[in-house]
Amino acid sequence: MDFRGKLILAPLAGVTDTTFRRLCRENGADIVVTEMVSAKGLLCDPTRSGRYLEYDPAERPVGAQLFGADPGEIAEAAAEVARRGFDFVDINMGCPVRKVTGGGSGAAILSNPRLAGEIARAAVRAAGIPVTAKIRSGFGTEKDTYLAVAEELFAAGIAAVTLHPRHRGQMFAGTADWTQIAALKRAFPGETVIGNGDVRAPGDAARMLAETGCDSVMIGRAAMGCPWIFAALKREIALPGRGEGTRGVPACPGTWPSLAIAADARRALILRHGEEMFLRNGEHGIREMRKHLAWYSRGIQGAAAFRSELPKVADPDSFRAVVGRFF
Ligand SMILES: Cc1cc2nc3c(=O)[nH]c(=O)nc-3n(C[C@H](O)[C@H](O)[C@H](O)COP(=O)(O)O)c2cc1C
Repeated sequence: MDFRGKLILAPLAGVTDTTFRRLCRENGADIVVTEMVSAKGLLCDPTRSGRYLEYDPAERPVGAQLFGADPGEIAEAAAEVARRGFDFVDINMGCPVRKVTGGGSGAAILSNPRLAGEIARAAVRAAGIPVTAKIRSGFGTEKDTYLAVAEELFAAGIAAVTLHPRHRGQMFAGTADWTQIAALKRAFPGETVIGNGDVRAPGDAARMLAETGCDSVMIGRAAMGCPWIFAALKREIALPGRGEGTRGVPACPGTWPSLAIAADARRALILRHGEEMFLRNGEHGIREMRKHLAWYSRGIQGAAAFRSELPKVADPDSFRAVVGRFF
């Protein structure tokens, strides 16, 4: 599998479920990834954790993201992901949340590059499908951790490294330091480096590619309420060798990014999103749509009043009525 020349949907816990991932694929994302799933949870309770690993073949290529700190557990879980038919496994080495780092997983792995390498090597051996890793700059503010970690990862046979250049303590504050993405690519010119962080305005993806030399761009928050951002970005950049096809997204020039779609296409997409959530999860799926509706309303006049109506969205009828009135 080639991870170069791609626009990739970032793993986003509570957001990038199978329905949302498919919408992003249909609207220009080349590769999608599940939200993070605990390797231990998957091994101990495959039914419960397996819910996060539901996918539709139309999403392909699709990866499953695992978190964990034990090479043996990650290896077993990676093999399970491969058995379930995923195209690749991504290992989370960047999550800053204490619940994850407290157990030594996520960004905590960055403070031990050798362990990062052991985890990667075990996963590569067991999976039989490509294994990628997603890292941050470091656990603390020390310099160059990401370079030491990436060296171990590439030596272990990792197919691509995604760098979100913020250290753990920054969470999402401040600015992603793209010079670190450039430094990573300079240090490993023959390897695949995916840049991530703060791509959200016109020209950002093109600028990240040009300024850093990275091979692909991963987009997270800007896709929330805006799955068509991938198609919009593709219209302004020429990624070498990128996949074709951004169907169903009429351009609406002059506006960006949440409005870079014609109103009737946006309404149809939101209605379909809700219908599929209902089919998959019943009224719980409709309640899940409240947060998506809040994101879809960003940048539209009257959004604050619209959001105050969202607690009333509880079934397909109230969902359709609210969407019809506002969008
Ligand atoms: C709500 C939310 C959930 C996230 N969940 C995950 C996750 O499950 N795994 C992961 O590696 N990163 C996760 N991230 C981090 C994103 O994948 C991404 O690295 C970060 O948002 C920076 O990219 P952006 O500026 O394009 O949003 C999450 C971020 C947000 C905002």
